[in-house]
Amino acid sequence: MSEKFDIGLGHNDYTLRKQGDSDFVSFWSDQAKNLHWFSTWHKTLDWRPPFAKWFVGGTINASYNALDVHQSAKSDKPAIFWEGENGDSKTYTYGDLFIEVQKFSNVLKSLGVTKGDRVTIYLPMVPELPIAMLACARIGAIHTVIFSGFSSASIKDRIEDSKSKIVITADGGYRRGKIVKLKEVIDDAIEGFDFVEHVVVLERTKNKISILPKDKLWKDLMKTISDSCDAEKLDSDHPLYILYTSGTTGKPKGVLHGTGGYLTHLYSTFKWAFDIKDSDVFFCTADIGWVTGHSYVVYAPLLHGATQVMYEGAPDFPDVSRMWNILEKYSASIFYTTPTALRMFMKFGDDVPNSFDLSSLRLLGSVGEPINPEVWKWYYKTIGKQKCPIIDTWWQTETGGMMISPLPGLETIPLKPGSATLPIPGVDISVVDEFGSDVPPNTKGYLIIKNPWPGMLLTLWEDDEKYKNVYWSKYPSCYYPGDYAMKDTDGYLWLLGRADDILKVAGHRIGTAELESCIVSDCDVAESAVCGIPDEIKGEAIIVFTVLKDGVTTDKNILEKNLTTKIRIDIGPIATPKQIYFVSKLPKTRSGKIMRRLLKSIASGEKIGDTSTLDDPSAVDEIQKIITKN
Ligand code: WTA
Repeated sequence: MSEKFDIGLGHNDYTLRKQGDSDFVSFWSDQAKNLHWFSTWHKTLDWRPPFAKWFVGGTINASYNALDVHQSAKSDKPAIFWEGENGDSKTYTYGDLFIEVQKFSNVLKSLGVTKGDRVTIYLPMVPELPIAMLACARIGAIHTVIFSGFSSASIKDRIEDSKSKIVITADGGYRRGKIVKLKEVIDDAIEGFDFVEHVVVLERTKNKISILPKDKLWKDLMKTISDSCDAEKLDSDHPLYILYTSGTTGKPKGVLHGTGGYLTHLYSTFKWAFDIKDSDVFFCTADIGWVTGHSYVVYAPLLHGATQVMYEGAPDFPDVSRMWNILEKYSASIFYTTPTALRMFMKFGDDVPNSFDLSSLRLLGSVGEPINPEVWKWYYKTIGKQKCPIIDTWWQTETGGMMISPLPGLETIPLKPGSATLPIPGVDISVVDEFGSDVPPNTKGYLIIKNPWPGMLLTLWEDDEKYKNVYWSKYPSCYYPGDYAMKDTDGYLWLLGRADDILKVAGHRIGTAELESCIVSDCDVAESAVCGIPDEIKGEAIIVFTVLKDGVTTDKNILEKNLTTKIRIDIGPIATPKQIYFVSKLPKTRSGKIMRRLLKSIASGEKIGDTSTLDDPSAVDEIQKIITKN
């Protein structure tokens, strides 16, 4: 039996859970009433598996709910305390954001953007990033934000798939004191893309850039434009954004989220998980380029009229105390970060956080990967001083918002280090075997979601078939997230990592297939297999096995360097492998399937188990020898 921590915030309202569990449709209908609708829905859910339409007939606007609704009471309240990596800082009130967003909406219109058009945003963590997103939402354009750590080949695929009319970028962004040349990456990525009509360039670093015919400077466009732009009344299922995420195939999938359902999910979970109050200062360290940033930096806090801190740069720059420094400076009360960041902070030693006044904190969150109990306890004791609940939230790009999480803003339940506890009300989750039968308590199985929820993806961008196959084909009428999990005897869920070929490296989602297709496109490489092994800080580290083409005699050190550079250029630095091994063959089944799980076991130094389906056992002997030698 694991340890339990009885900390709640005094909320003991179990009625919502009861309502959610007995009738999730009327439950979500009630929750949606917390938002502003231009016209109300006539049907809460139109469920034609696996396609859900939430709040049919209702019209709404995300930007209106994030900004307009706060203007009478909160126009002077800080919405964003922005902290630049280089020490710059700036405060945007709800009034300031309202004006900037309306101006930029008019800029987009002046560039010919209309409802349904796609706009790619490739910006660092600067306030103009949420401003651009909200401006798109205001006029009904679909934003597609690309993480500013991705390189040009990854961006090319994403822009091509979404056929974005406009790309918004910056002259550069700061990362660990260096300037990342974002504009150069975009120039490279959109070469030959006639459908991209304009590139809007924000000056962040004043780094020298080449101005091309499609380029327009943000500051010039904003100079004389009107600051009044009404929000479009959009259907509830109007697409809000596409966010590309790695899957089990070579190409990233365009996860498409709608408006009314998504916002309802975010409004509710933010309130329940973080018990948000008007006086709170919320600080989420996620980059807006990932879903956590979309949902819990941009939309959820703004829907609530909350104040938040947004930080531009690396968590350990200029030194390892930067995060605690920011928390103290802004008296943050809620901190939401990743297990990878926590493992790194823990390694730096307790003296670092202990030399700051963190007494303003009242809640601590975690997201993106399983949090090991040791780290959970460190977070609880050293950062939270044993008075802040740890909110371990499980969810995915596809789910839109939190699905499994303690909800101290709603009810008090004992916490167990390492467990994300229970599903949110209205969501029915099971842990099942290969055949879909519930596994007994404390047994590892596959997580499945048995009913639709409002934040769920609408589909994959222009690919309904793939949407059906990837998420809804393994178990009939159930959503399959691709995670292993276990339920204990109290019904608590323990998330046990991915059950498919997706890696979670420092919380970033990377598909092994995406990496392999990048590696085999190198002219020296014949075949490749990628797997993840446990890593003390990053959770998982990337290991690459490569078979070279016949006749390649180049020095292995040079080849390793070249391949690493190729991966960093094609995908981005987040995909840098920990180790590349050169082998003469890969372990395969008799039908030719690469046995990645076997590779993972060998590379992690685990027992390799059954190898009877292996075509050529000598492949394993060779790999074992090479790994031991290293
Ligand atoms: C993993 C991030 C354990 C999981 C919001 C999921 C977690 C994938 C947790 C989605 C958690 C996320 N505990 N594992 N609290 N949260 N995961 O799309 O494997 O980047 O399927 O969304 O992260 O990653 P994504």
